[in-house]
Amino acid sequence: MFETLSKAPQDKIFALMAEIAADNRPGKIDLGIGVYKDDDGNTPIMTAVKKAEERIVSTGKTKTYIGVAGNKGFANAMVKLSLGDSVAADRVRAAQAPGGTGALWVLLTLLKRANPDATVWISDPSWPNHKPMAIAAGFKVAEYPYFDPTTRGVRFDDLLRTLDGLGKNDIVLLHGCCHNPTGANLTHEQWDQVVASLKRTGAFPLVDMAYQGFGDGLEEDAYGLRAIAREIEEFVCATSCSKNFGLYRERVGCAMLIGKNATEADTANSQMLNVIRGAYSQPPDHGAEIVRMILEDDALRQEWMDELEAMRKRMVHNRTALSEAIRKRSNSTDFDFVADHRGMFSLLGLDEATVDHLKAENAVYMLDDSRVNIAGLADERIERLADAIVSATR
Ligand SMILES: Cc1ncc(COP(=O)(O)O)c(C=O)c1O
Repeated sequence: MFETLSKAPQDKIFALMAEIAADNRPGKIDLGIGVYKDDDGNTPIMTAVKKAEERIVSTGKTKTYIGVAGNKGFANAMVKLSLGDSVAADRVRAAQAPGGTGALWVLLTLLKRANPDATVWISDPSWPNHKPMAIAAGFKVAEYPYFDPTTRGVRFDDLLRTLDGLGKNDIVLLHGCCHNPTGANLTHEQWDQVVASLKRTGAFPLVDMAYQGFGDGLEEDAYGLRAIAREIEEFVCATSCSKNFGLYRERVGCAMLIGKNATEADTANSQMLNVIRGAYSQPPDHGAEIVRMILEDDALRQEWMDELEAMRKRMVHNRTALSEAIRKRSNSTDFDFVADHRGMFSLLGLDEATVDHLKAENAVYMLDDSRVNIAGLADERIERLADAIVSATR
């Protein structure tokens, strides 16, 4: 039977990881895969996570099934963390899912049941998994303008014009904060205009919140999502704890749906649980229990928030330091945008030949669209990277 298959395309990020591992040059700079790294290039376990994990191991009494919706305490805490008090609790239903990707998959499958004829609108560009996931769920896919390669900012007028032309058969996938791959984000005023447009047209928001706390802060990063929640009757949101809790391999995410009223939310929730039951039956508990424990315990929560804030500030520092180092060498403001971007990534706007040159000559690795992981830098590497970028773009 397998002879009928042709090879699936290789995931570019994993191919790049293998290439970096095979490079023996000392001082190589890895700006590829999207994980947070400290100055030593490690992706540490957060101290609050370690403590919660030790508590779970020492006090745990059972490994029995947890149920289709997963860890309920976790889901409630995640709803509070992302939505705050922006929407009445009786309209919200949430299920734990295997990572942000799992949450997106559950929600896309649910939306396909609700409106099989809808088109999913995705930013140009977007996280490379968005489009294939929407297609795999059976949707037509279209792109809305997002990144301006000249200014390296958001093409907001074009974006808004496109959104204004949508209607009830359109689902708009929005990055809640820290846009991946560009690093360019909407201002609060622009979010307000996006929300007003969605309200006018009836297009349905699907928010992907994978980096809360990595941009301007936990509360600030939720601005857009909460603005939607205050104004729009129904929407869905996928959140991830991979980055802000550093729980990548534990696969912790949450699928949230917000209905017009409690009755519709219940019906939609029954379909969401049915989707989960027919796919993986129930999610893994360990990572979700860690998050629940941290969010419900004042001391652990504070410790986590402090560590997350330190990670965020380090990324902002790396941004400022890199743009200043480039400006000092090039006497131009061409890369000042790096300091304005937020989150783990920036799209540098380099062509593929320059990306290849940096790899071959300087052992500097980034994705071939020139997305760099800002968290992969340290002060010493910033100076070398600035040298390399300035000489390659001269
Ligand atoms: C925009 C975006 N959404 C969702 C995810 C999913 O993250 P995970 O499934 O690892 O929680 C990622 C991870 O890189 C992402 O960048």
